Amino acid sequence: MRPFLPFLLLLLLSVARPADAAQPPVRGVENFNKGWKFFLGDEAQAKEAGFNDAGWRSLALPHDWSIEGKFDALNPAKPEGGGLPTGIGWYRKSFSTKAGKGQRVYIEFDGVYQQSEVWLNGQLLGKRPNGYISFRYELTRHLRPNGQANVLAVRVDNSAQPNSRWYSGSGIYRNVRLVTTSAVAVDHWGTFVTTPKVMAEAATVQLQTTIRNAGGKGTKPVRVETLLLDAQGKTVARQATDNVKLTDSTTVLTQTLNLPKPQLWSVQRPYLYRVQTRISQGKTAVDEYTTPLGVRTFEFNAQTGFSLNGQPLKILGVNQHHDLGALGAAFNVRAAERQLEILQRMGCNAIRMSHNPPAPELLDLCDRMGLLVMDEAFDMWQKKKNGKDYHLDFKEWHRRDLQDMVRRDRNHPSIIVWSIGNEIREQFDSTGVRLTRELVATVKRLDKTRPVTSALTEQEPEKNFISQAGVLDILSFNYKHEGYPKLPRSFPGKPFLATEIAAAFETRGHYDLPSDSVRVWPLDGKTKLTTGNADFTASSYDNARPYWGSTHEPAWLAVKRSPFMAGTFVWSGFDYLGEPLPYPWPARSSYFGLIDLAGFPKDAYYLYQSEWTTQPVLHLLPHWNWRPGQPVDVWTYFSQADEVELLLNGKSLGVKKKGADQLHVMWRVPFAAGTLQAVSRKSGKTVLTRTIKTAGPAAKIELTADRSALRADGLDLSFVTVRVLDAQGNLVPDAAQQVKFDLGGPATLAGVDNGYQASLEPFKATERKAYNGQCLAIVQTTEQAGTITLKATAEGLQPASISLKSGATSSASTKNNPATSVAAGN
Ligand code: GAL
Repeated sequence: MRPFLPFLLLLLLSVARPADAAQPPVRGVENFNKGWKFFLGDEAQAKEAGFNDAGWRSLALPHDWSIEGKFDALNPAKPEGGGLPTGIGWYRKSFSTKAGKGQRVYIEFDGVYQQSEVWLNGQLLGKRPNGYISFRYELTRHLRPNGQANVLAVRVDNSAQPNSRWYSGSGIYRNVRLVTTSAVAVDHWGTFVTTPKVMAEAATVQLQTTIRNAGGKGTKPVRVETLLLDAQGKTVARQATDNVKLTDSTTVLTQTLNLPKPQLWSVQRPYLYRVQTRISQGKTAVDEYTTPLGVRTFEFNAQTGFSLNGQPLKILGVNQHHDLGALGAAFNVRAAERQLEILQRMGCNAIRMSHNPPAPELLDLCDRMGLLVMDEAFDMWQKKKNGKDYHLDFKEWHRRDLQDMVRRDRNHPSIIVWSIGNEIREQFDSTGVRLTRELVATVKRLDKTRPVTSALTEQEPEKNFISQAGVLDILSFNYKHEGYPKLPRSFPGKPFLATEIAAAFETRGHYDLPSDSVRVWPLDGKTKLTTGNADFTASSYDNARPYWGSTHEPAWLAVKRSPFMAGTFVWSGFDYLGEPLPYPWPARSSYFGLIDLAGFPKDAYYLYQSEWTTQPVLHLLPHWNWRPGQPVDVWTYFSQADEVELLLNGKSLGVKKKGADQLHVMWRVPFAAGTLQAVSRKSGKTVLTRTIKTAGPAAKIELTADRSALRADGLDLSFVTVRVLDAQGNLVPDAAQQVKFDLGGPATLAGVDNGYQASLEPFKATERKAYNGQCLAIVQTTEQAGTITLKATAEGLQPASISLKSGATSSASTKNNPATSVAAGN
């Protein structure tokens, strides 16, 4: 485990100092996720403290009610929104606080989708339309004293539909905390740490602290002491400012520290310091607050692209929406970490948070794991993309939402660029100029250390009113890679990013022949898709795309060959719920991912792995179950080798090398059952061998858990892959058995999936049909330690079972201790 994890937990759970009898903890940060009541529907009286919610369901947050529902073509979110129910829901929680006299109490929400309103003891605290923004309310003056019960009530209204181009989820789907401070305390998101000068011998660290004073004019001056701690917790720099006068409700203090021999934050070695701020009045400590710090420099250059700490680095990124597949929008740290691990194994070094601010813990993960981030504010401004979307709230709320995103996120070293919007329609008329200037100025007032961009589509300068505003530091373009060579001439002196490339369609394990003809589905903006596959699949040969997109290879080659292009974000990393282009219902999740919704890589994942990593890669496709004599295209993606030889049943079908523009090699082979083998060689020596055999009838189940030692904290997850095998252990490539799960021990099944984009089976279930030989069960721990067993059965197959340990410690990552099943008795 990296040393940063304890620090992260510390940040999340509590930064309170140990209390002694004389002095209460200076800052209490209480996880407020447990003990909520939930009602799906509207109930006008539910805001009242005395309302009887005894009949309501008990649950713990984060919670997404949409993911628990049934797919239905008639659900108002439409297939584009994931085809799940939305509506109105209420949450209530009774609690008492031990807050002492003079202390302030706040409730913090990381994200509520959407149009939330919050009451404490019947008093309205406020509303927040934006479903992705974090916010807090002060509770102090409405709190009942002396440990009496208080009731928080939250109304969530996601009934105005459609309001999103993808699945949003519904509910309080991110974490909630109760924060208690002294009357004098660091303000909400009240620190901003920067490193104006970074040299090998020393870095200058500047900390701007906003101190909130609720004590009025008579408040005594304070001492503010700031400590820089290295990853081991050793103090490496210190600075104290005495006699800070707090005459206003907020006071901003800037301190400058000298950090000798800084350890730099990079994607290979994401070294994190932390900054600890201690505020005291005389001998009394009044607050203690921790801010993460990563010391790094970076530059976007118009000719040479991106560099990190002075070293050129191509940004090799993916776009990610916020859903976590079968878990929906309900945030879970381990589920997010798993996604990032799978992406990093592909060679990905960057994430674009498309198209909204993410859960804060996702940014913590990127800081800790070494992923660069584009943090994005909006998918639309005043002009709508859907009738009921955020354009309705933009005018009133956009400034506040944008400021809050920057304030919340600006201490994350992973963030290297802000985006003020994605494919904004104001790009095409003069209103784009004014709004772009306003939004960029809003960001710059809060952070001048990072460039600002917006994802554009229009590459002609005279037609693009967002670029004409003249204030974007970087111009980012989605698709149209054929136009890249012209960009430096069209926009002289500007750095560029390819914010979206590809948008190719793939269904894992499905192959349409011949592989070298590309399906363009649909052909253009006017033509409805009349072709396509009857079973709503798309080919995994990287030979299907929409008219605006591209297959992966030419798009990536265009980025690779453009040194001025700082990097790219592939659309998309994982499949996500909603936007099931090119298909209508029952398709309900996207086809764009390099990884399917269940987390199983599709073939194009290995294309990027062969290009983006330095490890030897050899990936052989497709499966080897076809009609005798049928011509089948056999592909390999490979790297760190000169050539690949293909053998069928021991007979060579020839050696192939990649030409200058080639990213794969192909053989057209008349199918004969047996063993297909690929061997990659460098200077005549074998580098890797891959073998696929014709599978016989399905005979047994195999279970593989990504982690078998779990934390008994009620949150930790094990992702268990189910594979249907023949008697010899080969994956049966079209197996579609209904797999039933039987879970024993202290755990629950958090979700099931198989990655098939048109499956209408529910995600919350104890069974799942295999799709192309595989499905997934997500096991979640409870707070009880013990042994968990998962048994999987299916008619006609030998069952399997796997055993997981839930206890005080967990395996840190997938690599540490996966587990594979043993066959179970019938
Ligand atoms: C882009 C858009 C993305 C997604 C993608 C699909 O135009 O920015 O959100 O819709 O198309 O190709």
